[in-house]
Amino acid sequence: MDHADHVRLIREGVSGGGSTWADLGSGEGAFTLALADLLGPGGSIHTVDRDRGALEVQLRRLETAFPAVRITPIAADFTAPIELPSLDGILMANSLHFVRDKAPVLALVLGYLRPGGRLVLVEYGADHGNPYVPYPLSFVTWSSVAVAAGFRDTRQLATVPSRFLGSIYSALSLR
Ligand SMILES: C[S@@+](CC[C@H](N)C(=O)[O-])C[C@H]1O[C@@H](n2cnc3c(N)ncnc32)[C@H](O)[C@@H]1O
Repeated sequence: MDHADHVRLIREGVSGGGSTWADLGSGEGAFTLALADLLGPGGSIHTVDRDRGALEVQLRRLETAFPAVRITPIAADFTAPIELPSLDGILMANSLHFVRDKAPVLALVLGYLRPGGRLVLVEYGADHGNPYVPYPLSFVTWSSVAVAAGFRDTRQLATVPSRFLGSIYSALSLR
């Protein structure tokens, strides 16, 4: 996947959804760059990852490509509470599958969002993992997990084929 694929996967979930976002498990920023592209100048992204090295790489890439988007890197574990402003949206791309017990994390995510705020999830379309993707969840599973976590109006946005675990989907849910 390239930048255009990343943008295409999350575009509908991000566009028109406000300017203050967080990217939980942002890594080296592949999807943060897509988010920054869609938010444009005036956008603000709190990027959270427990890997400080990845955050540094990501910050350099974002400063070069999208200098008018404000980036606030936060080195933290997103399974614990993080100090964040009330958010218009949260992106979790290929990061929720690292969490076995998803309900407590989703409760935190819901709490960070303003009423009507958006959660954009990018995940593999599979319910059985491997050592690299330990706890994936297909869109069908995510639909019921999201309801149980208090999200509403969950819908799939886009999918791309993946040699690894078959496919990758994006989904939008609202607080
Ligand atoms: C597969 S990478 C995905 C990075 C990026 N979102 C993307 O799609 O290109 C997963 C990232 O989530 C981070 N991560 C996993 N569990 C985490 C946790 N509990 N707290 C913070 N970061 C976490 C890892 O450090 C890694 O950078």
